[in-house]
Amino acid sequence: MRRAWMSVPYRAGSLNTKPGRKVLYVSLRMKASSTRAPGKRTKPPEKSLLSPPAPPARHQGEEQKTNLLRGRFKLARLPEVEAFSASLPFDRRLYRHDILGSIAHARMLARVGLLTSREANAIEAGLKEIEREIESGRFQFDLADEDIHLAVERRLTEKIGAAGRKLHTARSRNDQVALDLRLYLRDEIGSVIQLLRALVRSLAAVAARHLETVMPGYTHLQRAQPISLAHHMLAHIDMLERNRERFEQALARTGVMPLGAGALAATTLPIDRKAVARELGFKQIAANSVDAVSDRDFVLDFLTAAAILTIHLSRMAEEIILWTTAEFGFAELPDEFSTGSSMMPQKKNPDLLELIRSKSGRVAGNLVAMLTVLKALPLGYNSDLQEDKERVFDTLDTLKPMLSLMAQLWPRITFNTAAMGAAAGGFALATDLAEYLVQRGVPFREAHEAIGTLVRELSAAGRTLSAVTLAELKTLSPAFQADALKLLTPEHSLRARKVAGGPAPETVRRRLAELGRKRVL
Ligand code: ARG
Repeated sequence: MRRAWMSVPYRAGSLNTKPGRKVLYVSLRMKASSTRAPGKRTKPPEKSLLSPPAPPARHQGEEQKTNLLRGRFKLARLPEVEAFSASLPFDRRLYRHDILGSIAHARMLARVGLLTSREANAIEAGLKEIEREIESGRFQFDLADEDIHLAVERRLTEKIGAAGRKLHTARSRNDQVALDLRLYLRDEIGSVIQLLRALVRSLAAVAARHLETVMPGYTHLQRAQPISLAHHMLAHIDMLERNRERFEQALARTGVMPLGAGALAATTLPIDRKAVARELGFKQIAANSVDAVSDRDFVLDFLTAAAILTIHLSRMAEEIILWTTAEFGFAELPDEFSTGSSMMPQKKNPDLLELIRSKSGRVAGNLVAMLTVLKALPLGYNSDLQEDKERVFDTLDTLKPMLSLMAQLWPRITFNTAAMGAAAGGFALATDLAEYLVQRGVPFREAHEAIGTLVRELSAAGRTLSAVTLAELKTLSPAFQADALKLLTPEHSLRARKVAGGPAPETVRRRLAELGRKRVL
């Protein structure tokens, strides 16, 4: 079985292997590098999913010193070990943040005298060129580099020579990767928050149009009491606002600068961590070098916020699915968001919403996977931590389109306000009648029982509350007067529910205005 490593969308470039170091289990377009490793290069045949598995490559006994770290080894790694251990196929996504961090590090090294300013300038220019090479697809990725950090450093040394070999002074990949991931996540959480805000605005626009649109609120998925579509939308907005707060908290936890922790015990060299933090816009530096390289709580915070958010999106998706069934008939999906059936010509299916509903499981799975990676992990850097990135990337790739699609969908849904209003009448007004009696001095339990009896009798007769007469009401309680019958419309019920937090149009309008003032909208 060959595995496709490249399932995540990468921006540019292709991954190379060395001749004679064929990578097993990797189905990729492989090109021989033009600039590295001694010896003759042959282009390995292109592979497709249909070609038979490659025979095991003969392992070259003698080390080819192509990886920056292999000074202490006599033998090269088995190609299969190399392929299994490499994070380059996925962590190349961090290249911009890796380069950003390295530039800040180099500037600091120059400031404290560990580099000349000439060297620092050469490093900075070289790194910027590498960024352009990656962006334009010219960069030759090579699995032997293990990860994006070594790939960039190797290329820098190729480009600028000796100065490049000084970049990693007072730094380890352990603090480097922690920095890169924090920088990356800081940007990405920022864009998730923007997408969340756009979704909130799209819900608020629907709410503003439907302050008076009555619909039944449900408990146990049984019609309960009248609310408005706007009030229901604002329930989702409140949920999304809590999600935004969770992402803001995750962002704050991400904003701690780990560089300078080195492998785990900092360094004997006189570096200036605060200068690096300032340069990169961090307010804080990690206070403990061991924690700095061991900590992935910020990843957990992000994944937790994402998991809760996608669970909320699944609830939202499920409601639209229900509302668009013939049984509910409250809403219709726009064609652009619907799917047909391969067999049944009449079908208009909500596949998109079903996928949004189910992908919440995948995001929750990413959280559980990360919790499991960290469980019982001793402090200090462990390679287990390399597994954090795919959980983060997959979560982002799943979550961002979910948010964007939901924001685009809501304003295009057509609501059948007549069907919603009709479903909000009848027995959904029973509590209103009981509360009428309470206002006239009847204890609530007595009122509840009286109206319960009325509901039983009317249902047995195939009638509903809207058909009840004053005479019938009076047999239940002498407290009933003619005005009781006026209660029996969902519109009246809605207007009467003016308690703070309730669904009355005035209350909801005030809440919308308040959200606008708080700049939520
Ligand atoms: N590729 C590694 C990761 O993603 C970078 C840090 C590697 N450090 C090490 N000592 N192996 O976590």
